[in-house]
Amino acid sequence: MAVVVITGASSGIGAATARLLAAEGHTLVLAARRQDRLEALAAELGSRDRVLPVVTDVTRREDVEALASRAGEAFGRIDVWINNAGVGIPYPWWEQPPEAIVRVVETNLTGAIFGARAAIPWMIRQGGGHIINVGSVAGHVPFFSVYSATKAGLRGFTEGLRRELRPYGIHVSLVSPGFIRTEMTRGISMPGMAPPEVVARAIVRLVARPRREVVVPGWYRLFILLNGLAPGLLDRAVHRMGVYRARARRDASVAQEQPR
Ligand SMILES: NC(=O)c1ccc[n+]([C@@H]2O[C@H](COP(=O)([O-])OP(=O)(O)OC[C@H]3O[C@@H](n4cnc5c(N)ncnc54)[C@H](OP(=O)(O)O)[C@@H]3O)[C@@H](O)[C@H]2O)c1
Repeated sequence: MAVVVITGASSGIGAATARLLAAEGHTLVLAARRQDRLEALAAELGSRDRVLPVVTDVTRREDVEALASRAGEAFGRIDVWINNAGVGIPYPWWEQPPEAIVRVVETNLTGAIFGARAAIPWMIRQGGGHIINVGSVAGHVPFFSVYSATKAGLRGFTEGLRRELRPYGIHVSLVSPGFIRTEMTRGISMPGMAPPEVVARAIVRLVARPRREVVVPGWYRLFILLNGLAPGLLDRAVHRMGVYRARARRDASVAQEQPR
């Protein structure tokens, strides 16, 4: 059984993944900013010698270093590190304060880079490991530029890191979800949106059998292919579908309901 660190474990895909990994008997270190959520999930999943909650803001390098140290000191090793923490930004992003833009980059991209930086020395020392980065189909097919830039950056980082770490026996994988029903997508209603457990199951399979990339649900592969072959077609389609108008309406109503 593996020692697994999961960032963004307090909700959505991260929490669903933690539940499935705990059911398989893995030892977990749960990281996110909301302490109450982390504590409640840890209590639900097992005793402190099997599930350790560590309040972490991945945009703070000292937090990420402390997370790796707490995990390694508590369990003696770090077998799997899942960079799952992520945030979006309301559309239109150019009307948001600069801090909101920096936060997306520092959470989705540099948060994951510093997560890997903290985990790699443990993995080299123990002779192997597995880093799993949660990207997005948006890293292949951009609709919302700033969020997509972080996920495309994460995809490039993952691919390079996989090659760099091969000599050390460290696997590196990318998980690219399509639209999933979580707090991040609250207020968005689209046909065929999968629950977070679908992504969690893909991550659990990856832990057992590392692969380069998993796109989930799998039919989004067609979408990625279409964007590669005929990007102009998608340019026209998204405007016809009113994606940006719908998103602006949704963000306005979410902002009124629930400032975060
Ligand atoms: N939902 C989708 O449609 C979708 C599609 C493609 C990719 N993804 C990716 O999947 C991942 C998980 O998202 P989700 O859909 O499960 O959304 P979610 O339910 O909103 O979960 C996001 C998680 O990230 C954590 N987080 C945010 N900022 C953080 C920070 N600075 N430090 C530590 N943790 C932080 C949140 O916890 P705290 O607020 O407690 O810190 C939360 O646990 C993200 O990387 C997202 O980009 C989601």
